[in-house]
Amino acid sequence: METQIAALRIKALAAIAEASDAHALKESRVRFLGKTGSISLLSEGMRHLSKEERPVMGKLLNELRSAVTASLDEKESALTAQSDAAAFAAIDATLPGTAPEVGSLHPLTLLVDRAVQIFRRLGFAIADGPDIETEWHCFDALNTPADHPARNEQDTFYLPDGRLLRTHTSSIQIRTMVNHPPPIRIIAPGAAYRRDEVDATHLAQFTQMEGLAIAPGISLADLKGTLEFFFQELFGFGTEIRFRPHFFPFTEPSYEIDLCTEARGGKWMELAGCGMVDPAVLAEVSRQRGDEAYDPEKVSGFAFGFGLDRLAMNLTGVSDIRMFTENDLRFLSRFCPL
Ligand code: DAH
Repeated sequence: METQIAALRIKALAAIAEASDAHALKESRVRFLGKTGSISLLSEGMRHLSKEERPVMGKLLNELRSAVTASLDEKESALTAQSDAAAFAAIDATLPGTAPEVGSLHPLTLLVDRAVQIFRRLGFAIADGPDIETEWHCFDALNTPADHPARNEQDTFYLPDGRLLRTHTSSIQIRTMVNHPPPIRIIAPGAAYRRDEVDATHLAQFTQMEGLAIAPGISLADLKGTLEFFFQELFGFGTEIRFRPHFFPFTEPSYEIDLCTEARGGKWMELAGCGMVDPAVLAEVSRQRGDEAYDPEKVSGFAFGFGLDRLAMNLTGVSDIRMFTENDLRFLSRFCPL
């Protein structure tokens, strides 16, 4: 048996030395150390040995097992080191690295941030409201009668339960006044929805920014000063603004604001709607609140609203509004803070 052990040792060590890859090495491990491997088979022969011989052969077999295991482990490390070295050799450390891709903010987000910064300087806080609104918040409370064309199913997305996707952010004026007593000074950027045919200047979902200031004694001069300051800050020095009389159900008097800058071709462009909050709106809010906080005899205020997509188009020279929603990275990555 002793010679068998010695022969197996030579055979096993030679096979291991010859194994040229991990697969061949694994085969050797199974062949010599496995449950039915050569060493196990040899161990079975121990049964036929005398009591005296058994411990001697047992010791030799254990030594054989350790020697084969050590040789297998050593060879495995050597093979791993070899393949690692080959992998590293294939890397050209002098090649330039892969630069991480830097993301950027959406142009509308940049514009909202900029607008918020300007209004913050005048003490305006940000207000919010739900995109799914009641007819009362979106229309009735804003003095918009049931037969007004905006309330038509052709113009507005209605839900089966009678609620709707807000057609303007003006509903946030109502939400704010119902929940907070005056004085208030808020701006509210958010999505608005209309059943518009989508084209280069219209989307069914667009972005607006609403503004509202209510306190005792607020006048048209405050409205004018606020919006002149805002648009001059946004468009820069030399910006001219004019207030053109218009009609909105929830303001009286109402105006549209046009803007003209030499830098942008010196043409007048329409940018926003605004006016003094109609006393009927304040009265309806008072009725809902059940108090006198918004008594039109005691407080007054102004409101304004504008489309941020349009404004962004004017500021950046983008000619198709759809580009803001198409998620084309070539377009989106072009904007740095406005
Ligand atoms: N809600 C109007 C619209 O979507 C814009 C607007 C006009 C808002 C006058 C106002 C306002 O707050 O006073 O066309």
